[in-house]
Amino acid sequence: MTTAPLEPTWAPDLTAARREVDTLLTRFLERKNTTATAQRLPTEAVETLASFLTAGGKRLRPLLCITGWHCAAGQQPPPQAVLQVAAALEMFHAFCLIHDDVMDHSPTRRGRPTIHRALTERHTPTRPRALAEHLGTAAAILIGDLALTWSDELIHTAALTSGQLTALMPLLDAMRSEVVYGQYLDVAATGAPTVDVAQTLTVIRYKTAKYTVERPLHIGAALADGTTRLAHALSAYALPLGEAFQLRDDLLGVFGSPEQTGKSRLDDLREGKHTVLVALALRDAAPEDRRVLGDLLGRSDLTEAQAARIRAVLPLTGARTKVEDMITQRRDHVLRLLDTPGPIHPGAVPTLHRLADAATRRTS
Ligand code: IPE
Ligand code: IPE
Ligand code: MG
Ligand code: MG
Repeated sequence: MTTAPLEPTWAPDLTAARREVDTLLTRFLERKNTTATAQRLPTEAVETLASFLTAGGKRLRPLLCITGWHCAAGQQPPPQAVLQVAAALEMFHAFCLIHDDVMDHSPTRRGRPTIHRALTERHTPTRPRALAEHLGTAAAILIGDLALTWSDELIHTAALTSGQLTALMPLLDAMRSEVVYGQYLDVAATGAPTVDVAQTLTVIRYKTAKYTVERPLHIGAALADGTTRLAHALSAYALPLGEAFQLRDDLLGVFGSPEQTGKSRLDDLREGKHTVLVALALRDAAPEDRRVLGDLLGRSDLTEAQAARIRAVLPLTGARTKVEDMITQRRDHVLRLLDTPGPIHPGAVPTLHRLADAATRRTS
């Protein structure tokens, strides 16, 4: 007689983990503020970063890092050092977003003006507009740099064991290079979208899937001395899921509700982003629809009415449905992987299930 596998009697407490990560970030930035005040350094930089971090964010990367820990360690709760690494990943994400918004000329993020826009406005009354814009951009680049530097400081002050540091460093090195290469590929293709769908998939793998899903899971698992076999199983889950996460982001970036996403839905269209959605549309459009897309995509002065025209054309090309199907295929694939027993601790599997759903069905 075969017995059904027992349901795990425990689950990672991601609500508590999120709270602890946020507390670590707040305390860290409070200390930075105290130091800057004492040294008469510009507290505007710390305060702007602190308010960016508290304005919102799903905290997906720290939550995946902690889940990665449980994938290897089972029920054992993550020690403070691991929570601090998870917090460092959120700080690294802040660096990515702040610089991304400069590169994408984005006006809003997390329901507020982006950092370069906010600082431009703040300094407009005291100098000509062009200088204020330059200052806003320069300051945002520097605040992003601070987030990158402080993400590193959070790592090397986390009191990790030397074994943990040895396992962690190559993963961090890889993650940092991957996302920068991904962003490089993204900006290089911006303004000149083509029908090359394979290229758009490479971009999203590097700019998003790896730093958002794969590396956080690897890092959490490595801190619990996870095996190479476990890392491979986590990659098999993470890469399709990370792609689906960015495919959803691309759909929300055009068709989503700015009230829910906290971001403009004109950015990708005005920039002429070479997204999977756009590559599929250009590939499959009827000639007159292709002409509309060719004429309007990438116009920096695109009006709401012109954007509405693009939004009407994209579904006619079949591209919107195809991207939805690609998300569903990837989600179903990773959920099926989780159904097969493997090196992932069974107690963490329902959480991976839940995170796959949340990452792909999201509206924000
Ligand atoms: C936005 O990431 C950038 C992408 C990689 C798509 P998130 O959607 O995780 O942003 P927050 O942290 O929740 O604001
Ligand atoms: C996501 O970039 C990747 C990074 C931020 C590294 P996007 O430009 O596609 O994401 P959003 O839509 O601005 O958040
Ligand atoms: Mg962007
Ligand atoms: Mg971008």
